[in-house]
Amino acid sequence: MKGLGEMAAVIPAASLVTHHADCEYPFRQNSDFWYLTGLDEPDAVALFLPHRGDGERFILFVHPKEPDVEVWSGSRCGTEVAVSQYGADVAHPLHELPRLLDGYLIGATGIAFRVGKHPKIEPLVLKAWGEQLDKASRIGSSAWVLSAPCRLLHELRLRKEPEELDRLRQAAKISAEAHEIARKVVQPGMNERYVQAIIEKYFLEMGARGPAYTPIVAGGDNACVLHYTLNNSILCDGDLILIDAGCSLPDYYNGDVTRTFPINGRFNAEQRALYEIVLAAQSAAIKSVKPGQDAEGVHMAAVKVLVEGLLDLGLLSGNIDSVIEQGAYRHFYMHRTGHWLGLDVHDVGAYRLGEHSVDLEPGMVLTVEPGLYVSDRLQVPDGQPCIEDRWKGIGIRIEDDILVTRSGHEILSAASSSAIDNMEK
Ligand code: GLY
Ligand code: MN
Ligand code: MN
Repeated sequence: MKGLGEMAAVIPAASLVTHHADCEYPFRQNSDFWYLTGLDEPDAVALFLPHRGDGERFILFVHPKEPDVEVWSGSRCGTEVAVSQYGADVAHPLHELPRLLDGYLIGATGIAFRVGKHPKIEPLVLKAWGEQLDKASRIGSSAWVLSAPCRLLHELRLRKEPEELDRLRQAAKISAEAHEIARKVVQPGMNERYVQAIIEKYFLEMGARGPAYTPIVAGGDNACVLHYTLNNSILCDGDLILIDAGCSLPDYYNGDVTRTFPINGRFNAEQRALYEIVLAAQSAAIKSVKPGQDAEGVHMAAVKVLVEGLLDLGLLSGNIDSVIEQGAYRHFYMHRTGHWLGLDVHDVGAYRLGEHSVDLEPGMVLTVEPGLYVSDRLQVPDGQPCIEDRWKGIGIRIEDDILVTRSGHEILSAASSSAIDNMEK
């Protein structure tokens, strides 16, 4: 409210999404709406109206109580509970929004609303705004600007409150524990999907809502497809398996953890050499996480170790600085080293503001997830060596969830080991 000044904010909930015919995907609340309201129902709209008086600043529009509908699709909070439990000053049934929105927005100097994301609500906001502009010359005032609430809201979401950190600790712990369980059951001949089931079963047993994203369970060369989610191949003796899986708690806080290990319990020489490089890169990147560092610095700490290692193995050639400058390593490492983590897996918040990188601050949470992916999908850059077959089909990523603390960092996903000896049976 303070950040809005005299602007009104319109923040819509998510809607249900059709899976096929009349079946819907499980409901997933919009993270901005959830962060501000804690209400887990579709289609609701929250208004924040700092320009209004006490008792009319936080308005919720919700689906009203309707026993005939609720008997099919479950209980709704309704307008009374929207006030008594969710703290709204006033609550209205959703069908009143077109009639009432205009009046609530009158007197605000601007409207904070994210265009392009809420197709049912956007026409109502634009109509209300247009009508205000039409009357502006007679009334003498109007909401002059339509602005995005994202910057204000996402700055808040980027810096986690202590209660949020407890939830992220819990999400990372459950995610990490699932990886420990998966590692113990994997064996040659198993289907990737079976491993996915073991992981998702643990998430549900631990009270999570389920996976935060479709888990990646990738044997051998499948691990070189970064967003592989088919998870339907047989795990082969002699290959590695890469598992990227994290849970989402009932309040949507997420874990995001990746482990890679040999399916038969023993690394071969090439797998071991590359694993050691990725592990060293991750360790260097995690060590660099502290207040004042930035995401680019964390990324470059990993890139430096990866490139050094690849030069030592002869998979790259040349001078380290020029390989990095020219990006001549990107056929092995084509993604960034991490992202913010929170209510969204790739959480909101800027990494750069104009020319300046955003410095890490205590309370920010990010993943650190370097990897190496050796396949012949991408062209080897001019001047770089051809890749011998013995390296191909090795995809490795190690990913942990890291909280920035005042003195450095805390590894939230430490319940799963990535030490090389623990990856072997
Ligand atoms: N699981 C998505 C990611 O690691 O960014
Ligand atoms: Mn990640
Ligand atoms: Mn991940």
